[in-house]
Amino acid sequence: MAIDRDAALSWYQRNRARSRALFDMLPGDVYYQKPIDLRHPVVFYDGHLPGFSFNTLVKNGLGRPSIDARLEALFARGIDPHESQAAGDAGARNLWPPRETVRAFVAEADRQVLDAIAHAEIDQPGHPLLDRAEAAFAILEHEAMHQETLLYMWHRLPFEMKRAPAGYRPETGAAPPVQRDTHVPGGPVTLGVDAGARPFSWDNERPALTTFVTDFSIDRHNVTNAAFLEFVEAGGYRNPRLWRAKDWVWVGEHRLEHPLFWERQDGRYFWRGMFEAVLLPPGWPVYVTLAEAAAFAAWRGRRLPTEAQYQRAAYGTPGGEERRFPWGDACADESRGVFDFASWDPRPAGSTPAGASAWGVHDLVGNGWEWTRTPFAPFPGFTPIPSYPEYSADFFDGDHFVMKGASPATARELIRPTFRNWFRPRYPYVYATFRTVADA
Ligand SMILES: [Fe+2]
Repeated sequence: MAIDRDAALSWYQRNRARSRALFDMLPGDVYYQKPIDLRHPVVFYDGHLPGFSFNTLVKNGLGRPSIDARLEALFARGIDPHESQAAGDAGARNLWPPRETVRAFVAEADRQVLDAIAHAEIDQPGHPLLDRAEAAFAILEHEAMHQETLLYMWHRLPFEMKRAPAGYRPETGAAPPVQRDTHVPGGPVTLGVDAGARPFSWDNERPALTTFVTDFSIDRHNVTNAAFLEFVEAGGYRNPRLWRAKDWVWVGEHRLEHPLFWERQDGRYFWRGMFEAVLLPPGWPVYVTLAEAAAFAAWRGRRLPTEAQYQRAAYGTPGGEERRFPWGDACADESRGVFDFASWDPRPAGSTPAGASAWGVHDLVGNGWEWTRTPFAPFPGFTPIPSYPEYSADFFDGDHFVMKGASPATARELIRPTFRNWFRPRYPYVYATFRTVADA
């Protein structure tokens, strides 16, 4: 067996418990609302998570019968935005089933998925979806990834709609760490991984590809709110020369003057956290779009790293071997980085020195995804993953860029050198930060 049934069962249960806790954070009347325009209402995600798991593993993988074909289709793709718009706000609500119906479907989907993981032939060599237990791994990682999406959507809801866990306060810290340019000598870099080399990888991680980077230097710490404030105060959002053409149009259209995570009140900046607004913590990594990150880098006469430069800074070593994690082989615990739901907000940059890379670069994994300037594209030899063929292939359009690392809301199971995330350059909601590089 390529998969440990007990480990997979407990991961599925851990996922479900965390998802349930996230849905329970919200009052009932938010269920049919969209926290973010362009995304689905909350009800969709409630049904989508177990619905996807059921469809992928039980129905498509094992060929077992439907629970409710209409609900399976609804929770696979949601409701067409045109149809929803045509129905109007009140009408759109009637396109979705009542909560009890969703809950009954979810309970049955969970029951069947758990039964499959515990007893079915979920690892079938040569089977398009079950070879090396691919569908089982895919559903586990899919739910973990969605939890981060849920969190950044919940982030946008009014504070009074969310209950903070007892005793939680953001760790705002004090002064930012001293920024330093760190030299990284050139060398070979491994991007991606061969299919058989680890129990599971997504299609966009495969196959392994060796590339070379030349010498460069990179910020030892993420760009902090304090550093970004200098850019804001220097008129960064009013200087078209710093922005790419489309990004400048976006700045004008939305009359942007600062990042989405910042709010200005009485002449002072605040950070909009998950549960409260705090006076802008100077030492936190700034969360911005790729457009804003690139403008800041241009202002500093620098650039964003490429995916390969990030990889070399994070996993390369002076001896030439590549590490499993930036800090080495030790497991990804809370001392190494701010990830795995360790916090509802960022923590000060540099607060996990035990997670620094071989070159002494901090927070490459955790405390916010790292933007790269590399467009999201397949590695040579790419083939879509059979259990979720649209996962990556739908986004190879030149308008999505690779992010690496992890945020506070990234599950530890997703932390590996080859994991790639991607977004549009002006999508402002994600927990994404950056650092800059200079070519030697
Ligand atoms: Fe999904």
